[in-house]
Amino acid sequence: MDEALARWLVGPQGADALRLASEQADPSSLAAATALRKHWRPDQAAAALQQAALRRRGRTKFGDLAQALFLTAAGLEQATRAEVARWRAGRFAAAGVSRVVDLGCGVGADALAFLQAGLEVVAVEFDPVTAVFAAANLRSALGCAAVQRGDAQQVAGELLRPDDAVFLDPARRSSRGRSWRVEDLSPPWEFALSLLANRTGAIKAAPGIAHTAIPPDLAATWVSHRGDLVETSLWSGAWEPGARVATLLPAGDELTIPRIPHEAAIGGIGAYLYEPDPAVIRAGGASQLATLLDGWRVAAGIAYLSSDTLVDTPFATGFEVLEVLPFDERVLRAWMRGHDIGTLEIKVRGLDVDPAALRKRLKPAGTGSATLVVTPTGAGARAVVVRRSQAPK
Ligand SMILES: C[S@@+](CC[C@H](N)C(=O)[O-])C[C@H]1O[C@@H](n2cnc3c(N)ncnc32)[C@H](O)[C@@H]1O
Repeated sequence: MDEALARWLVGPQGADALRLASEQADPSSLAAATALRKHWRPDQAAAALQQAALRRRGRTKFGDLAQALFLTAAGLEQATRAEVARWRAGRFAAAGVSRVVDLGCGVGADALAFLQAGLEVVAVEFDPVTAVFAAANLRSALGCAAVQRGDAQQVAGELLRPDDAVFLDPARRSSRGRSWRVEDLSPPWEFALSLLANRTGAIKAAPGIAHTAIPPDLAATWVSHRGDLVETSLWSGAWEPGARVATLLPAGDELTIPRIPHEAAIGGIGAYLYEPDPAVIRAGGASQLATLLDGWRVAAGIAYLSSDTLVDTPFATGFEVLEVLPFDERVLRAWMRGHDIGTLEIKVRGLDVDPAALRKRLKPAGTGSATLVVTPTGAGARAVVVRRSQAPK
């Protein structure tokens, strides 16, 4: 799509085409294309239908708001989930920020949340079509927003006033496809970090970013949303330098990891097994969590924790241990037969085992169900039969 077509799509004729496109049962069907081509050019019909399809896909990220947004495929894929964007905007607002410059705003999911939190927003985007869509998305929101088409590296100097906060969510694509290497980010990683010096700001980074790539003077937050690890955010200015926190959204529970993390003891399988939330694991908070659970790790470097106490915690899913079996497929098959197990959930950490392939080999055939946790322990690999003792998040 070119910029002219994007402008048409966000205009009044585009609105009519989108209305008709959204009524189509399958926007990718020939019938849908035929219906729209009665009124609009083929490229316009295709753009409206593609937009209708993207809005349907966008529902998981944006809920009902997706119906009002203009999206590109890359823009949707890289956009921040609405509840995560709201959390970030809330942190800026609570820090007393009044204007934020969003350098590389994409389709504007974060910028929209900043506006909705009452902040003034200046957004920059260098892709022409994405910039047109971002402007349309932000126009519909309350507040004051300007979307400027340009290169963040060229315009940051003139846009950023001394009291402004800055936000960057660098694009994670390279010529080799999707990438999480900081070397492949755009705007560049070093540029993003340089803007955080001496001002309040945040960078949205990959959830798997190496801890060594995070400057020690920035606060870092590993964020999960409904159990999915979604990002690592780096914060400067208003946030405590060097803080390391796991944040679980939408509830907002936070686990702060001590500066000098201690290593939890290693022990056997107790009465309960805990699987920490992925944000806790990536933040390096498993040992800290073990302390809160009055527990220990089941093996060095393995994130499964165990305890003889059942603790109600948002930071982990707790399981009651029913039986501890050696990880031996003959033993497991016999156990399955003996317990008439037909539905088997398998969780694996720290061993090169494909749960789906293992399930097939174990041939579940009965009427009962079971959950197996396969993990190394100090005494060798074990298959632990468990029952969830908390509702999964
Ligand atoms: C990950 S997306 C931003 C997503 C956004 N935070 C959201 O939630 O919708 C990054 C965007 O930065 C843009 N971009 C990359 N390099 C840029 C640069 N040097 N100047 C301006 N925009 C840039 C890309 O075109 C892309 O749309």
